Amino acid sequence: MISEKDFITSNYTLSVDNGDFIWSAPSNIALVKYWGKKDKQIPANPSISFTLNNCKTITKMAFAKKENDRDFSFDLLFEGKPKEDFKPKIQKFLERIFEYCPYLKDFHFTIDTENTFPHSSGIASSASGMAALAMNIMSLEKKLCPEMTDDFFFQKASLLARLGSGSACRSVKGEVVVWGNHAEIKDSSDLFGVEFPSAVHANFKNYQDTILLVDKGEKQVSSTVGHDLMHDHPFAERRFTQAHENLSKIKAVLENGNVEEFIKIVESEALTLHAMMMTSMPYFILMKPNTLEIINAIWKFRNETGIPVCFTLDAGANVHVLYPEYTKEKVLEFIKSKLVGYCQNGQYICDEIGHGAMSI
Ligand code: DP6
Repeated sequence: MISEKDFITSNYTLSVDNGDFIWSAPSNIALVKYWGKKDKQIPANPSISFTLNNCKTITKMAFAKKENDRDFSFDLLFEGKPKEDFKPKIQKFLERIFEYCPYLKDFHFTIDTENTFPHSSGIASSASGMAALAMNIMSLEKKLCPEMTDDFFFQKASLLARLGSGSACRSVKGEVVVWGNHAEIKDSSDLFGVEFPSAVHANFKNYQDTILLVDKGEKQVSSTVGHDLMHDHPFAERRFTQAHENLSKIKAVLENGNVEEFIKIVESEALTLHAMMMTSMPYFILMKPNTLEIINAIWKFRNETGIPVCFTLDAGANVHVLYPEYTKEKVLEFIKSKLVGYCQNGQYICDEIGHGAMSI
């Protein structure tokens, strides 16, 4: 079995002086949620997500060899302008991945990053951002180790992204990605995300995700604090077991195309995630009144029309509305007439399943 040690790069040439790369990486939406982790970003349970297409981070990384290799050295720009507040996060990321990428202190980096979604939209950019940065670092590593295989390139990119932000490891490659050991998913690993190994049923092809921006305010609970709440949580062990069970169930559903069953698992996972936050100490309610209004309106619409639309949530108040492509026109009409009023400034983002990171 592949282990962490296999990702420590020690044999490399420093034959490249300078250059740059540009990568885009998408956000992703979990169907079975990652909530709870152990040391070194090891997940407490496996998770599975749809990769998104439109919500992306685009990051350009320029590198130049330097003399003094005692410390990390980088400039950070957001939309072309220096952004000091992002630097500590990047510094911490470089420190965490240094044991795998010892060449990082040999270069000065200029990292220029932007998102396709409006900033302060309440959409977390950590998954797409960390994935885009990890891709750039792997492009540099590929220059230093040209014999590297594609498999290694993407696996290590996902491993590095994970060390930046857990869910980021699911934003590297593939339309449906599993992260975390699971008995029924071949080659699944706690160290990196893997593409869902079986063919996904046509019912889920181009599945749509419209993100309703209910609350764009500062996150009430950071993900680090949130994951920590699962330590000493009264329901933690049962929840972790349930995630394994739900992953088995959703695996079958993605293969056989049973959209009704898909809805049950996905909505239950979203509510369970929030139930974990409501039953931890300290406890939090991250939904807003409009989150509940939207959920109720979706249930009413589904009952009345039979259209298989459902919702999922992240650790916040925004709602992801998931539906098959063939229902797009009717669901968008429903969103515009019934749900937009619950969104802050009427804002929502239309997205759909995408393929993962791309070199530009
Ligand atoms: C609720 O990946 O943001 O979105 O590893 O601390 O960076 P860190 O956490 P993060 O947690 C995401 C949690 C979630 C569920 C999910 O995406 O699986």
